Amino acid sequence: MTDKSACGSCGDQDSSCGCESCGDKQADGCPGAKSHEPEKLVENDHSKIKNVYAVMSGKGGVGKSSVTALLASGFKKKGYNVGILDADITGPSIPKMFGLKGPAESTGFGILPMTSPGGIKVMSLNLLVPNENDPVIWRGPVIAGAVKQFWTDVLWGNLDYLFVDLPPGTGDVPLTVMQSLPVNGLIIVSSPQDLAVMVVKKAIKMAQIMSVPIIGLVENLSSTVCPHCGGEIELFGRGQGKEVSEELGIPFLGDLPVDPLLSKLCDEGKVEEYQSNLFVHLIPEAIIH
Ligand SMILES: Nc1ncnc2c1ncn2[C@@H]1O[C@H](COP(=O)(O)OP(=O)(O)OP(=O)(O)O)[C@@H](O)[C@H]1O
Ligand SMILES: [Mg+2]
Ligand SMILES: [Zn+2]
Repeated sequence: MTDKSACGSCGDQDSSCGCESCGDKQADGCPGAKSHEPEKLVENDHSKIKNVYAVMSGKGGVGKSSVTALLASGFKKKGYNVGILDADITGPSIPKMFGLKGPAESTGFGILPMTSPGGIKVMSLNLLVPNENDPVIWRGPVIAGAVKQFWTDVLWGNLDYLFVDLPPGTGDVPLTVMQSLPVNGLIIVSSPQDLAVMVVKKAIKMAQIMSVPIIGLVENLSSTVCPHCGGEIELFGRGQGKEVSEELGIPFLGDLPVDPLLSKLCDEGKVEEYQSNLFVHLIPEAIIH
């Protein structure tokens, strides 16, 4: 047995590999190894994208897509040109939230994003498949390839902000997005019961290894208002977002209560009609410059 420790990311026993765990820049397969860092993908001639923000979570169903949709809507209402790249290839939910149905059109130069009623440009696998209910049964590399094509082959035009809705966790797609797209920052979404510090820490550690700045943490589903007495109910227990953010040294961007109107509007494809204090109070200072 050797007493060399394996890199947490690439498992290389022989050399340290350069990710935070060990310090060498050579090992194959380690996302942190600088000499193997893939080049960022270049935009096509029909896309000029100023800022890219990705929305990430430790686990599923905590509200990434809703937060992505609310951010995009908030920035659009402020007058910015906004797009959403739905990187959740196997579980795309953005088109439904915005009431969009494919097929998206292609030109000789590439694929045209679809435009929501409020003017947000959207690309999602669900806008390209013939039946939105058919599953995508692809292996990881093919899925990652589709996400890259959403950057290289979609004609985004001029965008001030492109928001990337990631699938849950720290798998292939978040890795591809952080490696291949010029991501300015990550917004991490959590919910009170998800705030097992461990899960959030994994997402944060990944971002640090990939050298992507963390804009901060949003705690979703933090509380709701009793329809009878108007009192505040903490459905999933007391939120810990603020404490956890402090412990992990990342900004706490605020919380978003459970609101039946939000899920209703999402289901009806009218998420843009929702008035959210997420945008008004929490995020803008963090990412408008
Ligand atoms: N604050 C909220 N109030 C009410 N409903 C919410 C809230 N946040 C999310 N939802 C609802 O919960 C469901 C899951 O949310 P969403 O799709 O945004 O989660 P997700 O993290 O993107 O999930 P996945 O991991 O599957 O991609 C949706 O139906 C959404 O409308
Ligand atoms: Mg989602
Ligand atoms: Zn009550």
